[in-house]
Amino acid sequence: MIPSLSQLTAEQREIQQAARDFAQAEIAPHTASWDRDAHFEPSLVQKLGELGFLGMLVPEAYDGLGLDTLSYLVALEEISAVDASVAVMVSVHNSLPTQMILRWGTDEQKDRYLRPLARGEKLGAFALSEPDAGSDAAAMTTQAVRDGDCWVLNGTKAWVTSGTHAGVILAMARTDRPDNRRGARGISTFIVTPDMPGFRIGKKEDKMGLRASPTVQLVFDNLRVPAANLLGEEGHGFSYAMMSLDNGRLGIAAQAIGIARAALEHSLAYAAERRQFGKPIADFEAIQFKLADMAKGVAAARALLHATAGAKDRGESVTLPAAMSKLLASETAMSVTREAVQIFGGYGYVTDYPVERLFRDAKVTEIYEGTSEIQRVVIARQLYAVSGSPAHTASHATSPLANGD
Ligand code: CAA
Repeated sequence: MIPSLSQLTAEQREIQQAARDFAQAEIAPHTASWDRDAHFEPSLVQKLGELGFLGMLVPEAYDGLGLDTLSYLVALEEISAVDASVAVMVSVHNSLPTQMILRWGTDEQKDRYLRPLARGEKLGAFALSEPDAGSDAAAMTTQAVRDGDCWVLNGTKAWVTSGTHAGVILAMARTDRPDNRRGARGISTFIVTPDMPGFRIGKKEDKMGLRASPTVQLVFDNLRVPAANLLGEEGHGFSYAMMSLDNGRLGIAAQAIGIARAALEHSLAYAAERRQFGKPIADFEAIQFKLADMAKGVAAARALLHATAGAKDRGESVTLPAAMSKLLASETAMSVTREAVQIFGGYGYVTDYPVERLFRDAKVTEIYEGTSEIQRVVIARQLYAVSGSPAHTASHATSPLANGD
């Protein structure tokens, strides 16, 4: 276990230990086979729910644990260090759908959808991207048209994590008219459930990594969504999605750190055991330098993420540090797992050891919830927002680099 620089409270350490124990007992024995078979285990959702891991950020008043952000992130790192596929399910569920309903939902929506999500009776998903709208999320074309007491949605959402098993999906669609397009301001958010007429699960992706986490397209074919399931205000859905992704990116950073940490721990153990030229390979500087750089990366990514968690709980805007945390953590996960495979040599390239899976799992953290290139766009815009440059700035930015001076 690589020590953390953060001073965790007794309660945070308890949560961390509970997540570690759960992951070791309930997940670790299956990680390799679930990855090989691209198997999603529904019973795991129930077990995670019973322990509160699917309502970590939801207040107790709505059946959650009401934890602080750092507790949530250390738990997520523990789960990810054992199985990043399970971690992304937990991250998306906690960071996106539950937080969106908590923040913008009506009392009725909270009773009907947030409580079962927080108890883990239903799994949550987030449907923003489309086959032709990825980084340019506002270019989505899924159309919602009001028809009496319903909205009728037509279109295809893509890359939906947990989409095969989700009971509550927060879906973004256009509510502006084709003859009066309003860009990002023409998008609204809907609470969709799979029992609504016109809902269909589409193509299931066959992925390089995170194979135990199902990723699918969702097809809305005259999908009838009750008007009461519009989330918040019409036309605000894109901003809701962006604000939620600020939280989501913290979860993905924790997931990436878990992957990197696991790769480092496996590498440390292997380098101490593996003998070449008459001594353990850990005695060679070439290997020591790799291990040192890997540990430095994990520590730095974790320190930035934990500082960002504190800023979030103080109510500060985290658009900038969340993008930086996700960027640093995901690039660290990629470089650490690449070096882990190198330390294992041929054994790192086969499925007998876990670093091969960790290397594959790491890659997507540089892609989803905003590619590394998009994180750099977000960071640069935030920097310009602070400096007051006339360059394209994010209007919501409020001195994200402010440090009390
Ligand atoms: N917080 C609050 N509001 C925000 C915001 C934020 N972080 N970012 C943007 N907005 C608001 C802006 O203020 C603006 O509002 P107004 O019109 O009222 O002024 C509106 O949103 C549009 O903003 P931009 O002009 O900046 O929008 P853009 O079209 O230039 O796009 C972008 C900005 C950063 C590139 C954005 O499209 C983006 O983040 N793209 C990446 C998409 C992404 O992360 N997808 C992940 C898919 S989900 C996933 O992967 C989950 C999973 O299952 C694992």
